[in-house]
Amino acid sequence: MKYRFYFGFFAAVLLVCDCSKVESRIIQEVSEFEVVEPPSDFRLSSLCPSGWKQEKEYCVINYQYVNSLEKNGGLGQTLPQVKLDPQVIDLGRYLFFDPILSGDKQLSCAHCHHPAYSLSDGRSQSMGKDGKGYGPTRSGGVILKRSAPSLWNVIYMKNLFWEGRASNLEDQAEGPLYSPEEMGSSKEIIESRLNEIPFYQKMFRQAYGTKGKKISAPLVIDAISTFEKSLVSFSSRFDKWSTGEKEALSPEELLGYNVFRSFVARCAECHPPPMFTNNVFATIGVLDRTERDYGRETITGQELLRGSFRVPTLRNIAKTAPYMHSGNLETLEDVVNFYNEGGGRGNGAPSDLRIHWHVRKMGLNKNEITSLVAFLKTLNDEANMPKFPKSVPSGLPVALEFESYHHRSSIK
Ligand code: HEC
Ligand code: HEC
Repeated sequence: MKYRFYFGFFAAVLLVCDCSKVESRIIQEVSEFEVVEPPSDFRLSSLCPSGWKQEKEYCVINYQYVNSLEKNGGLGQTLPQVKLDPQVIDLGRYLFFDPILSGDKQLSCAHCHHPAYSLSDGRSQSMGKDGKGYGPTRSGGVILKRSAPSLWNVIYMKNLFWEGRASNLEDQAEGPLYSPEEMGSSKEIIESRLNEIPFYQKMFRQAYGTKGKKISAPLVIDAISTFEKSLVSFSSRFDKWSTGEKEALSPEELLGYNVFRSFVARCAECHPPPMFTNNVFATIGVLDRTERDYGRETITGQELLRGSFRVPTLRNIAKTAPYMHSGNLETLEDVVNFYNEGGGRGNGAPSDLRIHWHVRKMGLNKNEITSLVAFLKTLNDEANMPKFPKSVPSGLPVALEFESYHHRSSIK
């Protein structure tokens, strides 16, 4: 049924469309992976990405606004200052967007951590292998158990994945790459494919010098992790307000911030600035969709941690709906209502969960709820969104082309 629709659509477009560019892309979709020759001038950028500044040959984070939070006692700890090589960041960016890393050459990291969805995918549960497209309209593939977190500020996360099964980005990357439900790749596939692509040979040598002569899976993972570390966001209106730009927040948003840090709502105890996470695990009693998710308990075996998950960052939260590990709260209003009703306690969570004592009925009124939501929106800042490469060294179609494909199919 679905196929008939697609082929019918292709035929219609081929008949009516006079623009050769669109036509060739559609043919590429049908014949699956016909390779487009990428431009011959692939060169890695030696400029630091937005949000970073050059220090000798490295990039360091430009803590424009956050420093003052540190001074004002909002933090009580120094933020890490890492040095990243700009060319390695750029190489990681190409790898992140290139479906060549997946077993069937269809799925890139960016399909589920997409710029259009603030480095998440807009789905309640991600869709892995055999899916087509990306974002909420991705269809036909394996449904994963959980939602995709956005990757903003992952450099500051001490535990990765919802239940914290990885503690650094290097270990984390092996998860999606080698999982048969996701990218279904292997060390051997990655190494043999990339070593055959002249553009990648050139780029790895450029980024890593002689170490990059032979492309190895650890180098690929190093480059992707370096790119992920560059995804920082802390120039939101909230940050501007924190450094003294008092007009950056409206009275309603300020009321919302006061609710956020009040002893009634207690949001800031688990989601403290500047990263809006305390990096620990907590049980708030979010309901699962289908199968029960035991969260952190599956890692430590402690019943006490049943259904507990890593406290997520709230940076860019307004851009990454739906919410929670199971993606079952659609909007920020739904999230605030969930907490206001007592979290899992008020929403029928299983009785064997030890829900955190800070999560209980709050009795916030309508005005306080709206203000709290307005405050959460002040944490938006996508100024450092990475540039989407128009083409990648493998020549395979990137998720952007699927977008134009979906766009066309919806305007048919
Ligand atoms: C099929 C969709 C999909 C693909 C492809 C995918 N991810 Fe993910 N990603 C997810 C989901 C879902 C989670 C949460 C999984 C969990 O917690 O069990 C996740 C979690 C993560 C996290 C942890 C973030 C955090 O805050 O804990 C990072 C980092 C990450 N992915 C990076 C990558 C990289 C790098 C790639 C490519 C090598 C990739 N992802 C490919 C869906 C995907
Ligand atoms: C006891 C610690 C704790 C408190 C207090 C708390 N949170 Fe959370 N928050 C969490 C945890 C843990 C999750 C993830 C739970 C899950 O996915 O099952 C979460 C998830 C969220 C999410 C969804 C994040 C995402 O990426 O999907 C939002 C939004 C949020 N909290 C806002 C708030 C607000 C607003 C308050 C105050 C009303 C608050 N939180 C109070 C621990 C807490």
